[in-house]
Amino acid sequence: MNKAWTPDSWRNLPIMQQPQYDDSSVLSSVLSDISKLPPLVFVGEVETLKSKIASAARGDSFILQGGDCAEKFEDCSASVITAKLKILLQMSVVLCYGAKKPIVRIGRIAGQYAKPRSNDTEVVDGVEIPVYRGDIINSYEASQEKRKPDPKRIKQAYLLASATLNYIRALTKGGFADLHNPQNWELEFVSKAPKKDEYQKIVSNIQDAINFMESLGTREDSLHSVEFYTSHEGLLLPMEEALTKYEPAYDAWYNQGAHMLWIGDRTRALDGAHIEYFRGIANPVGLKIGPSANPRDIVATVKALNPNNEAGKVTLIGRFGHDKVKQHLPKFVEAIQQESLNVLWSSDPMHGNASKTESGIKTRDFDSIQSELKDSFAIHKSLGSFLGGIHFELTGEDVTECIGGTAGITADQLELKYETFCDPRLNYSQSLEMALLVSEMLASQK
Ligand code: PEP
Ligand code: CO
Repeated sequence: MNKAWTPDSWRNLPIMQQPQYDDSSVLSSVLSDISKLPPLVFVGEVETLKSKIASAARGDSFILQGGDCAEKFEDCSASVITAKLKILLQMSVVLCYGAKKPIVRIGRIAGQYAKPRSNDTEVVDGVEIPVYRGDIINSYEASQEKRKPDPKRIKQAYLLASATLNYIRALTKGGFADLHNPQNWELEFVSKAPKKDEYQKIVSNIQDAINFMESLGTREDSLHSVEFYTSHEGLLLPMEEALTKYEPAYDAWYNQGAHMLWIGDRTRALDGAHIEYFRGIANPVGLKIGPSANPRDIVATVKALNPNNEAGKVTLIGRFGHDKVKQHLPKFVEAIQQESLNVLWSSDPMHGNASKTESGIKTRDFDSIQSELKDSFAIHKSLGSFLGGIHFELTGEDVTECIGGTAGITADQLELKYETFCDPRLNYSQSLEMALLVSEMLASQK
């Protein structure tokens, strides 16, 4: 592990979850093409995000990370990007109210195109075909031919990520932040919520605070433009390597395809290729930990990723499940405390809470998601630690993929608007409602 690192040193180690390309010369030429294109992000922004994560790890701010499970190429459109940004921005305003701290927004966006999968193949209409691995690798269309990994998709992914990010930058700098104002929110669901009075109070307090600040003339600055960062799972290492550049000004290597990247629960083997790649880049890195992890390995992995114990570098994202979080989370918190490792603790209440309906549809239950978050806050508090971030799969559209919430989506309704290519996401009102609930959890932390 302590051998010299290079952007391609991961190539000597065992690697999980990669596609097998038929034609390696097409792959090489695509990688060479994208490595010559301008970076998607600037290293100064990456360092700023790292310092913001360090501030969240000190308890001075809070991280909201969210977006699609699998971003689709066809969703690179003004309306879909706007809807995703809108819900994340609105959630951040609600959380800011409860936390009384700045909220740092990080999208699973502009590059969240590669998916780890449980099986290599699936049977569709009696035929066994390769599984869908994300738009950067193959097509969702279920045929032998379309599911073949196509390296040219990597270049398309790069160009679509760049168009997505370009539009995000336009929106966040050009006045889109006006959506801070609850007047622009879709709040019909609040009036139907069992906790209607609490929700209404939060929303009207936010409205008052914004009106007050605007009356003081602060409109031009913080209320009018917002910071927003990008992230994706760093799964497809040939692509990540191609976007990794040395920055003399910082004397460090950066992945310039996203501000932050995370390592999935399935690719975090200590002696594997992913940890080798990630230990060499200066970007902030997330590490997902689920029930199969053990504290000794996670401590060793955090040390490998962050040998200088730099603040802001590592975010540990627990994703245990509502029924397992109490059993697993405490031992990780204690192990990290014992070694005095600098990490930010975040919770992904989505990936441990997957279930299937009787008719076989993948879903997640709003109450289980809420319950894992509640327990995570409480466990940290009881151990003298704290939860400094949350990580969701969500969308700004009115899809029907997760069950529950005031929207009252039932198992029978899932098929009405089930659009995800991978895991089920919270829809607009479920996301906003979850933010209201987390806002209360944050307020009661103090
Ligand atoms: C994901 O974040 O989409 C994912 C696959 O998560 P995990 O690695 O936690 O299973
Ligand atoms: Co997912």
